[in-house]
Order: sequence, then C-alpha cells, then structure tokens
Amino acid sequence: MEKISNYLGRYKNYTFPMGFTSAEIIDSLQRFEIRDSDLFLVTYPKSGSIWAQQIIISIYQLDGGLNEYTNNLEHMPWLEYLEGQDSYPNRPSPRLFSCHFIPDLMPPQVKDKKAKIIYVMRNPKDNIVSYYHFSKICSAMETPTSFEDFLEDYLQGNVGSGSWFDHIREWHTKRDQYNILYLNYEDMIMDLKTEVTKICSFLGKNLSEADVEKVVEKSTFKNMKEDPKANYQFLPETVVKGIFMRKGQIGDWKNYFTAAQSKTVDRLLLERLGDLSLKFIWE
Ligand code: A3P
Repeated sequence: MEKISNYLGRYKNYTFPMGFTSAEIIDSLQRFEIRDSDLFLVTYPKSGSIWAQQIIISIYQLDGGLNEYTNNLEHMPWLEYLEGQDSYPNRPSPRLFSCHFIPDLMPPQVKDKKAKIIYVMRNPKDNIVSYYHFSKICSAMETPTSFEDFLEDYLQGNVGSGSWFDHIREWHTKRDQYNILYLNYEDMIMDLKTEVTKICSFLGKNLSEADVEKVVEKSTFKNMKEDPKANYQFLPETVVKGIFMRKGQIGDWKNYFTAAQSKTVDRLLLERLGDLSLKFIWE
C-alpha cells in the first residue's frame, strides 16, 4: 500500500481513508463467497448512500424475512470497513452490504451476476459540497483548509474513494458484467415513489401501493433525520462529530462554486465522461 497522506492510502488503483479500510481487507474480499440473494449498494461517498440504505431496508422489512438489527449500519454494513468483517460470511440471507469500491475490488463472483448491485450517482457539484462538509466532521478524513483546496483535491482524486470521474466511468463502462440498477440522487429527490417502485421491481419485491407509500414516508429527509436507526447519529463522536443528514437538496453547490470553478467541473465532465451520455440535474 502506498501512503499518500496522513489519512489516505492507495492500493490496487483505489484511494481510501486508512481509518476505514486496509490493503488486507481489499485482498481478503477477493476470496469472499457470494450468494445469489446478496445485495450490494455501491456509491461514491456522499451520493445518498444512507438514504438508499433506508429505502432498501424498508423494502426488505415490508416484504418480510429480514433479520432485525439495531440500526441501518448493522443492517447494511460497509463491505470494506475494518469492523465486522469476521461476521460477514455467516450473516443470514438475504445479506445486504454497502460499499464504495471500484468494480475491480468487488468480490469476483459478483461478476457472474450472482448478486444484485444498486449504484447511486449524484451530480458532482453537490457531491463535492457534501463531501467538503463531511470531511470537516469525519475523523478519518483530513479537515479541508478551504472549499477551494478541497475542490482541488477532489478533482485530482486525492480523497477517499479516489476520483469521482473514474468511479462513475468504471461502474458505467463495466455495466454488462453485473446485474445492476443505476439510480440518481436527483431523481430520488424529485419523485421518490417512482424510484422506490423501480427498486422494488429490480429486487423482485411485489409491495402493495400502501407499502410503497410507507417506504417513501420512512425515507423522506425529515423523517429519516428523526429516525435514530437511520440518521447515523448513533456513530460515536470519535468517528463523526456532526450531522450526517445535512441539507439533502439539489443545487446547494451554487452557494459554494465560483463561475470559474463550475466551468472547470463542466469541462472535466465533458472530457472524461462525455461519451457516456449521462444526465445531470443541477437544480
Ligand atoms: P448533503 O450533505 O448535501 O445534505 P451519503 O449517505 O452517501 O454519505 O450521502 C450523504 C448525503 O445524502 C447528504 O447530503 C445527506 O443529507 C443526503 N441524504 C441523506 N438522506 C437523505 C434523504 N432522505 N433525502 C435527501 N438527502 C438525503
């Protein structure tokens, strides 16, 4: 592993906070046995992971047959995090995992389309703002000296999970290898019910209209913020000292970006992802 700062390590083309994962775990997951019923939620950090967790867990709970855990982190632990690894192989099915990995680091059997993947993407400008704030409250990350400096690090991929552009590119260009559903944070903001219905259909969960409404209700920003199992306030202050559920909006980037910074991101989007015909909603 190459140490690239006091906080970040790099191994097999992946940059990660050393407080959260390690080269040993990355290697060990190459031997992780997959079950058909496994589900992986994959995101670049700050793209709506804990929101998607709440939706997915609520769907499985209403469908029946999901073990009870104390909170959403226990329900859908991060595959790559240092804690909990030993228990993963023996968790009862269906096993739900969260993960920030790039495709090459996933357990190889996922490629056989054995398990399902849900990938959530957020527009990069709001993603940057959210990540900037999170870096200030997360002990495993370097506190940014300014938004400008953070933006620079982010655009160079010198943050946990590396370059957002590479993450998006990798997961989209390798889509044929996986049984994968792509979601956008912004679509979820604009019409959560439609996105919940999409997720149910991908997971083969035939929920009634009333149950779909229940999932939507449990997953609104306001309700999740007050839900102690979902809002991540259960994390000790030694890990995150502040509020995980910050604003939950589209377009907060306008309060941070200069016109020039915004143009830089637009240019990079075109240069690095222009061929993928992705749609972005900015406000
Ligand atoms: P902001 O910092 O812009 O508020 P992740 O879970 O991947 O770390 O992403 C965190 C971002 O998702 C935060 O964005 C958080 O507020 C937002 N989020 C979490 N739950 C949400 C919800 N129910 N509705 C909208 N946004 C939500």
